[in-house]
Amino acid sequence: MNQTLVVIKPQAVARGLSGKIMARYEEKGLKLAAVKLMQAERDLLAQHYAEHAGKSFYDNLLETMGSGPVLAMVLEGTDAVTAVRMLNGATDPLKASPGTIRGDFGLEMAHNVVHASDSIQSSQREISLWFPELAVK
Ligand SMILES: Nc1ncnc2c1ncn2[C@@H]1O[C@H](COP(=O)(O)OP(=O)(O)OP(=O)(O)O)[C@@H](O)[C@H]1O
Ligand SMILES: [Mg+2]
Repeated sequence: MNQTLVVIKPQAVARGLSGKIMARYEEKGLKLAAVKLMQAERDLLAQHYAEHAGKSFYDNLLETMGSGPVLAMVLEGTDAVTAVRMLNGATDPLKASPGTIRGDFGLEMAHNVVHASDSIQSSQREISLWFPELAVK
């Protein structure tokens, strides 16, 4: 049993896809442990995407992720990190298989619908970043 962070990106929230996307995770058997609609501040995004600092797409990524409200959530279940990455599909929506979230709901790399943690270590770091209120006091 583990937890993972998912962020539904601003364009997908604006397109009204949040409910459909959350249903995919729930139908798989993952449990919603926390969820919030929020505007991600630049500082949070810079910490979240620190591994990509300096890359060609970094500035555009931060701008896109800050362009409107996102839906951040913590999902839990057996091997949740892997299960969610499988449901999401490949990073590039044009290469993501039909049936995956990215394969079904998007066309462009910059608007690939969702973010998800890529390892248990990343999930722990990202959950404490996006949901500091969940930390044990
Ligand atoms: N070559 C690229 N050109 C434009 N945008 C990119 C490129 N590579 C990645 N991105 C954007 O940066 C995000 C983070 O990239 P990363 O390599 O971590 O992909 P990922 O782990 O599949 O996706 P995520 O971290 O969003 O779950 C991607 O979701 C995508 O929106
Ligand atoms: Mg990633």
